[in-house]
Amino acid sequence: ARGTPMARMRVNGQALEFALDPATPLLWALRDAANLTGTKQGCGGTGQCGACTVIIDGGAALSCAVTIGSLEGADVTTVEGLTSHPFTLALVAEDAIGCGYCLPGFTCAVAALLQQSPRPAAEQVDALPNRCACGMQPRLRRAIERVAGASAPDLS
Ligand code: FES
Repeated sequence: ARGTPMARMRVNGQALEFALDPATPLLWALRDAANLTGTKQGCGGTGQCGACTVIIDGGAALSCAVTIGSLEGADVTTVEGLTSHPFTLALVAEDAIGCGYCLPGFTCAVAALLQQSPRPAAEQVDALPNRCACGMQPRLRRAIERVAGASAPDLS
């Protein structure tokens, strides 16, 4: 008999092994197996809301749409790994936290964007799939402006 398949990756700098079906979406492995519940499910895993966004190998990715079987050896960062990121601190400084549901995905999306584009254009920010239903967009934008151009931290 074959043993349980293992998916091995680094999550927030720690080596993790998931003894789960390789077809398991990363979102549920993080939440249910690794107890990293910051990452949210918003649209039923249809890839439209961005609430489940994490950073995989330096780029923003929808964790509902990525299977753990495809992530062998990958480097994953979730919102739990961004607690001291300048954007997280800027969100607090701008009082940009509404209900908080969109924020983990938004934080990951912006952190990845800032790494690739330290001074993102407004259109790049608007192109993010993440939406805030609490009306925090102006404050979220100010938080991005607050950190744009600052030296982007290494997320790896
Ligand atoms: Fe909505 Fe993943 S849960 S995009």
